[in-house]
Amino acid sequence: MILVLLGPPGAGKGTQAERLQETFSLVHVASGDLFRENLREQTELGILAQKYMDQGKLVPDDVTIGMVHARLEQPDSAKGVILDGFPRTIPQARGLNQMLDDTGRELDAVLHIAVPDEELLRRLSGRWICENCQTPYHDLSKPPQKAGVCDMCGGRLYQRDDDKPETVRARLKVYHEQTSPLIEFYRESGHLREVDGAGDIDAVWQALKESVQALES
Ligand code: AP5
Ligand code: MG
Ligand code: ZN
Repeated sequence: MILVLLGPPGAGKGTQAERLQETFSLVHVASGDLFRENLREQTELGILAQKYMDQGKLVPDDVTIGMVHARLEQPDSAKGVILDGFPRTIPQARGLNQMLDDTGRELDAVLHIAVPDEELLRRLSGRWICENCQTPYHDLSKPPQKAGVCDMCGGRLYQRDDDKPETVRARLKVYHEQTSPLIEFYRESGHLREVDGAGDIDAVWQALKESVQALES
């Protein structure tokens, strides 16, 4: 199964991907996580991506497509993939189609998690992330059992540099201008499934799970 999670910054893509990967035995491939991993290791790709990420802008398409392509060539992705944060532009969507065509795979669905902007600002300002396994937490909606420590792996929690309010506003603007056209793109191709992302984490999970189960049957 190949699924895409499409939605604005803070919609809950990472949060829901974690549950999807467990329930449906899929591999979670998040372009933002891959960039941050490269940044930590100070690779050439990471250093290039940082300039864009710090400003809330998109990393250029060719670089992003190349990185995701390399990840999808790894053997574990054969069991099925949840793409989180990719594609984010029409050229990236075409790039994905090409990659899948080349390997005889097919996109199953694009799950669009819709959330109003005011709620996104609230979610991102209270977010903490595990530096080891990338699990997201939230001061109010999903606090860890022990402050500053990941429930899943004991890793240290940190706040992302690009979750500062001015950068979040830039990310939202970029989403509306460059990524939201994908909603129409995937509606036309018949892949789009709408999921209401405004409820709490469990309510969104219920809706998402039902949507994916409907694909399986
Ligand atoms: P990326 O890491 O993908 O960030 P993003 O799309 O901005 O999304 P987020 O990770 O911020 O949000 P999320 O939807 O995963 O929400 P989460 O589950 O954490 O990209 C970062 C940067 O990398 C980009 O700006 C760009 O520069 C670059 N990049 C990445 N991909 C690229 C691409 N394809 N092309 C070009 N550049 C690219 O949840 C948010 C918070 O809310 C958490 O605290 C969580 O606990 C809480 N929460 C979740 N759900 C709920 C709920 N239902 N109710 C209450 N709280 C909730
Ligand atoms: Mg995320
Ligand atoms: Zn962890």
